[in-house]
Amino acid sequence: MNKQLRKAVIAGNWKMNNTRFETKALIEELIPKVKDADCGVVVCVPFTDLETAVNLTKGTNIKVGAQNCHFEAKGAFTGEISASMLTEMGVEYVVIGHSERRQYFGETDATVNKRVKAAVDAGLTVILCVGEMLVDRENGVTDELVAMQTKIALGGVSKEKLSQIIIAYEPVWAIGTGKTATADQANEVCAVIRATVEKLYDKVAADALTIQYGGSMNAGNAAELLSKPDVDGGLIGGASLKAPDFAAIVEAASK
Ligand code: PGA
Repeated sequence: MNKQLRKAVIAGNWKMNNTRFETKALIEELIPKVKDADCGVVVCVPFTDLETAVNLTKGTNIKVGAQNCHFEAKGAFTGEISASMLTEMGVEYVVIGHSERRQYFGETDATVNKRVKAAVDAGLTVILCVGEMLVDRENGVTDELVAMQTKIALGGVSKEKLSQIIIAYEPVWAIGTGKTATADQANEVCAVIRATVEKLYDKVAADALTIQYGGSMNAGNAAELLSKPDVDGGLIGGASLKAPDFAAIVEAASK
């Protein structure tokens, strides 16, 4: 982290977990544990939990995010949710382009780009996920692939709107597997992302960009990952479902 240049943000990605009842219990447990955080704290919850999360976190330092949104404003898109539907209910963040959406739901770099633009135009802060698969890393194309994903996703996003973007570097082989990238591996790719953004915009914009690492980040490895200069936070899956674990990561980012 380099807190002189940019904000550290820890975001929980709950994925398809927690009913409204469970959401209430988890957030109520979390609120006192993270109230003194010296970093951004976000929980990205299922659509059906958003209202509960927004209401419970009012007046606290916890922000609420969704895990996807559609790129059209409205219309015949059965099962989809628009960006303005989220902002209207007090949601401030949205995860776009998570690898599970890319793997299981036909998300492409092109549709990620459309969603990113729609979300920032609606006023949301986007947590844009990029990352290589194991085969890409083995083929030695991680840097090129992640740079390409970043470039396509940010196409048409102005420098002003870049302040509404957080990028999460999530190596797919590290997600939910218990295999974490080493702190050096994480930092190296986060630095590639920053250099890509510098080429697209400028150094000031790239220096101010929050870049998270995600992939089996937990209470035990967070401090080391966050000690690296280009790792500005984390997108946390499994460990965000337990308040003490998530709070310990928030504490590591608050140092
Ligand atoms: P994980 O998930 O922490 O469970 O590996 C991270 C993510 O998918 O965002």
